[in-house]
Amino acid sequence: MRSQSDSILAPLSLPDGPFLLAMVGAAGSGKSRVARAFPPDWRLELDNYRWQATGSPGDQTATPIASVVFRELLEARLTRNLPVLADSTNSERGVRAYLTQRARHWRMPTVAIVFRVPVQECLARQETRTKAKQVPPDAISRQADGVPTPDQLIDEGFDHAYYADELDLLGLLLCRAATADPDPLADVRCTFGEDLAAVFAWHSEREHGFAAGTFAVAGREITVRWIDDGDPYDHHWQARLNEACTDGCPGPLWVKVTDAADLQSVYLGGAPDEPWCDGCHSHGLAVS
Ligand SMILES: Nc1ncnc2c1ncn2[C@@H]1O[C@H](COP(=O)(O)OP(=O)(O)OP(=O)(O)O)[C@@H](O)[C@H]1O
Ligand SMILES: [Mg+2]
Repeated sequence: MRSQSDSILAPLSLPDGPFLLAMVGAAGSGKSRVARAFPPDWRLELDNYRWQATGSPGDQTATPIASVVFRELLEARLTRNLPVLADSTNSERGVRAYLTQRARHWRMPTVAIVFRVPVQECLARQETRTKAKQVPPDAISRQADGVPTPDQLIDEGFDHAYYADELDLLGLLLCRAATADPDPLADVRCTFGEDLAAVFAWHSEREHGFAAGTFAVAGREITVRWIDDGDPYDHHWQARLNEACTDGCPGPLWVKVTDAADLQSVYLGGAPDEPWCDGCHSHGLAVS
């Protein structure tokens, strides 16, 4: 058995150049989870386009439009000789034939990864999904019954085909994650969410010795800072209140915020925690 470090160094034997990768497996078999081992721009996912068309990834009435988008993007990438990952069940032979035919047309090698997961497991995984993303049990059973073996996929025209558990896909994901650029907004994203992180910028100057930044949208803004006094159990965010401390102490007031709801409360004039004054704090006092 390979050691962990070996497997990270040599995650997969995939073609050197670009290739078309088709996931093959029933709904809930783990295709999209594994697809994260590959760059996001490779991934074409019908669920995503159904969601964009209707607000619901499982809304089958949007399958025709989702398929059009899928095919257009597939063609756009193949034309440019870019790798592409078809993250759908690909459980129908005709769908797979379309993929291999388009790839052959553009002289792109094809790889299939097959997910052999007991149907009971696929069904149980539906429970963890939102209603909108759940697939009917009879459809899952049908898909699971129809999953071909790698040998059958080679006979169908794929250049390479593997069972997912024969490959070191975790090693590949680690490789990608470990070499990704560090995210300067990771803490902001994690505390306040993706959308607020998108309107956040760090200040070049520190606020009273602490890293600070502003959420700004169309002339409205709220400033926060990251308090890290060296105690690993006591670092947190503070948001600046609009008012100053008192006449005697004009120091800025800050308040601890732990999530987007706290930030909203500050924006609306509230204070989700005891306000904290830099002026008074320099004498060791919290302000109430
Ligand atoms: N090996 C696993 N261990 C634990 N949970 C898993 C595993 N594989 C998948 N899951 C979970 O099961 C759920 C379904 O997985 P995923 O979305 O990857 O399935 P899928 O094959 O892409 O399904 P669909 O065809 O409906 O898009 C997800 O919540 C995922 O995190
Ligand atoms: Mg999926």
